[in-house]
Amino acid sequence: MKNILITGGAGFIGSSLAIKLIEKGYKITILDNLSTQIHGEDPETTSPLYNKIKDKVNFIKGTVTSREDWEQALKGQHVIVHLAAETGTGQSMYCIEKYTEVNIQGTAIMLDLLANNENNIEKIVIASSRSIYGEGRYRHPELGIVYPSHRKENDMLNGDFEVKYKDGQNLELLATDEDSKIHPSSVYGITKQNQEQMIMTVCPTIGIAPVAFRYQNVYGPGQSLSNPYTGILSIFSTQIRNGNGIKIFEDGKETRDFVYIDDVVNATILGIEKEEANGEVFNVGTGVPVDVSTVANTLISSYNIEVPVTITGNFRLGDIRHNFADLSKIKSKLGFEPTVYFEEGIKNFSNWVLQQEIQEDKLSDSLAEMKAKGLYK
Ligand SMILES: NC(=O)c1ccc[n+]([C@@H]2O[C@H](COP(=O)([O-])OP(=O)(O)OC[C@H]3O[C@@H](n4cnc5c(N)ncnc54)[C@H](O)[C@@H]3O)[C@@H](O)[C@H]2O)c1
Repeated sequence: MKNILITGGAGFIGSSLAIKLIEKGYKITILDNLSTQIHGEDPETTSPLYNKIKDKVNFIKGTVTSREDWEQALKGQHVIVHLAAETGTGQSMYCIEKYTEVNIQGTAIMLDLLANNENNIEKIVIASSRSIYGEGRYRHPELGIVYPSHRKENDMLNGDFEVKYKDGQNLELLATDEDSKIHPSSVYGITKQNQEQMIMTVCPTIGIAPVAFRYQNVYGPGQSLSNPYTGILSIFSTQIRNGNGIKIFEDGKETRDFVYIDDVVNATILGIEKEEANGEVFNVGTGVPVDVSTVANTLISSYNIEVPVTITGNFRLGDIRHNFADLSKIKSKLGFEPTVYFEEGIKNFSNWVLQQEIQEDKLSDSLAEMKAKGLYK
């Protein structure tokens, strides 16, 4: 059985993936710096994610920005699943150096080592993101398929949040396929595009098979309930359980494609195991958009805690309006089918949340940071 290195393997996706791969007989090494934003101030004792995997894997506490840590982690590996990253879209718009250092430079160091040193790596699977598509794919009544650029701040200040084409025409939302235009609207998205392009360009020249997964919004048991920078289901859950009202951005009709953690793990394993995945990029989602007001109201009824919901009309620069995945390629090439849709997944998620300690609600601090930078209106 192969040895697999998972960077960021103590995180939400990585820890679930590690457990599943161990069950399948793989030997797992994890390189993770146990970032405090995800794992808290005292990760070795209090992080449930870290505790889930620590005795089951060869754990290296280190950072993907260090050449030495990569050298140690790469020894004896056959496959790399590169998940370690800074992941907050909003935060990426003002922590630009940190996001590019961890996400882009971290990937560059990995590839530089592999291009210049002997190694046994056969495949690299990288976590890309739907954020690289920006506003996604639409049908214009006269022009056909178009890829509108990001929304105008002035329109949004006037409460007009829908995506329009540059001639002002209203558009019909379509699922985004892998051939859709890549035009991210956040620094996070740019770093994901860059990671994906680097592995797709370099790996074939050094005899390594690259695979990229463009995950939609991943959710489920295990996701960090204390990180106020990303993970809308966690953020809302922590607010509701603290008895705080939910303030919804825009008009609440913005949508995301919420994909359940087990489906993401299964897709990623297909990428590791199937030769048909080599050299390819795949969307991973459910193909079903769900709006943010529905998310808030479903969670409130799941927890049975009455809190006020306010549609604020506020917005964050860098956020997109809608995006959902066209899954034709991953279905036909890898045989992937999502198995858990929103209604069932949110039940599993909220049942799990109820077994966790209530975390401090830090959303207002993170929004104050964004407001001070002019990124939250
Ligand atoms: N969760 C989603 O909705 C989603 C969607 C699209 C793409 N992705 C991508 O999937 C990957 C995993 O996401 P996740 O949701 O599990 O995130 P996560 O934040 O739960 O996990 C990331 C892990 O990386 C570690 N890490 C951060 N900086 C590091 C560094 N410098 N060196 C080593 N480790 C570091 C963190 O400690 C954490 O354990 C990321 O690359 C993310 O961009 C996630």
